[in-house]
Amino acid sequence: MTTLSQAFEAAYGYAPTGVWSAPGRVNLIGEHTDYNNGYVLPFAIDRRTWAAVGVREDRTIRLRSTFADAEVTASLDDLSLDGMSGWSAYVLGVAWAAADAGADLSAAAGLDILIDSDVPVGAGLSSSAALECAVGVAFNELWGLGLDKLALARIGRVAENKAVGAPTGLLDQAASMLGEADHVVFLDCDTEQAHPVALHLAQENLQILVMNSNVEHEHATGGYGERFASCAKGAQELGVATLREVTADGLADAQARLDDVTYRRVRHVVTENQRVLDTVATLDADGPRAIGDLLNASQVSMRDDFEITVPEIDLACDTAVAHGAIGARMTGGGFGGSSIALVPAERAESIASAVRDALSAAGLREPSIFTVVPSQGARRDS
Ligand code: GLA
Repeated sequence: MTTLSQAFEAAYGYAPTGVWSAPGRVNLIGEHTDYNNGYVLPFAIDRRTWAAVGVREDRTIRLRSTFADAEVTASLDDLSLDGMSGWSAYVLGVAWAAADAGADLSAAAGLDILIDSDVPVGAGLSSSAALECAVGVAFNELWGLGLDKLALARIGRVAENKAVGAPTGLLDQAASMLGEADHVVFLDCDTEQAHPVALHLAQENLQILVMNSNVEHEHATGGYGERFASCAKGAQELGVATLREVTADGLADAQARLDDVTYRRVRHVVTENQRVLDTVATLDADGPRAIGDLLNASQVSMRDDFEITVPEIDLACDTAVAHGAIGARMTGGGFGGSSIALVPAERAESIASAVRDALSAAGLREPSIFTVVPSQGARRDS
């Protein structure tokens, strides 16, 4: 087997300085709450993106990957958002965003970069954040930026917002940076304070199944931006800076003042924030077997109030629960992508085949189903 370092040497003619990596993520609960300054509870998964990087003597960045033939070249003297497109925008966007955040790149060395990944693209598992965070930790070390993981997560988010054009929050990059084995990351998106919460999955003999609908989504266009706009409209009409300020007690008043669609969007965010807090409290007090109702309620809220699920996701979740999952819900931005099911390990296979059968019987697209393990966030591998 060729290692990534060997592949780098074959591509660039010398050995890399090091290899850095960062994972994709699953959000356990807390969807579309991040850009409303609310709460999220994701974990980093055991699927990663690796960046083998070598330091150059000039100011050139050369970028290659194991999944595309073309080499992209850019200069650190001329990093502009205009010239960025395709997957390389995620990498060059991080360099741009670091400079935009105040990092002094005036003496930074050019880099040769080779990217590899086993995070599925378009599955709602944040392959883009994995890429941003892998190069983020590499840049931080090689350019001596001295940034902590949260600062690097923010830079990844800015890259996503500005270089890629998706109005996303901090969820994905925070999970990819701060993830820990067997833990979820509780993040308050208002204060940007984060702490790990123990999951104890193995101890409880539980697994998490990812059920990728194989319906592809795009957050730079379409429904994601519309939901973002509805939340901003709701906040404005309610006279608050963000929906974080609205609590369950304020929902009756919100209903009286908002049109039905905006109200339901607001209700999702408000109730979802509470479900995140309840999930953290339940995990601490009673463990993961007790969070099923919260996962299921989140799925219903995304389906009926926020309207971001697709039939493949709804049927997969309902079928998983009917066949013994503790809970199941869509994860990520929606309009396709993946759902997750929290399952007793001994039932994982039978639940997966029941979901496949149900989707096939309904004439819907065949899902890809696999387990994920909560894993360590961004790091240097060698
Ligand atoms: C996408 C975005 C995140 C978050 C989720 C929905 O993954 O990148 O910032 O908004 O959707 O919770």
